[in-house]
Amino acid sequence: MAKFVKVARVEDIAPGEKRIFEVDGTLVVVINLDGQFYAIEDVCTHDGGPLGEGRLEGAQIICPRHGARFDVRTGDALTLPAFEPVPTFEVKVEGGDVLVESW
Ligand code: FES
Repeated sequence: MAKFVKVARVEDIAPGEKRIFEVDGTLVVVINLDGQFYAIEDVCTHDGGPLGEGRLEGAQIICPRHGARFDVRTGDALTLPAFEPVPTFEVKVEGGDVLVESW
């Protein structure tokens, strides 16, 4: 059974925005994509870049270090130089709280 940790209120992350949280020692980027929340690890699989500091373009986040794109819904690497997917975390909304799966 996955454990979930509250990180924010729904209104804390507007649609089209993201925020970085520490969840049990892991940095996680939580993205609000048109009202649906997604979470990925804040570490690029190419060379450890801080993905949470990257730009969002629709469902894609662009690594600020060398420009690899990832799909925030699946974690898939969409462009080089990254080819490994970034880990994703399940997100739940309960009573206006945003909860992220903890490893
Ligand atoms: S560290 Fe992200 S593209 Fe290189």
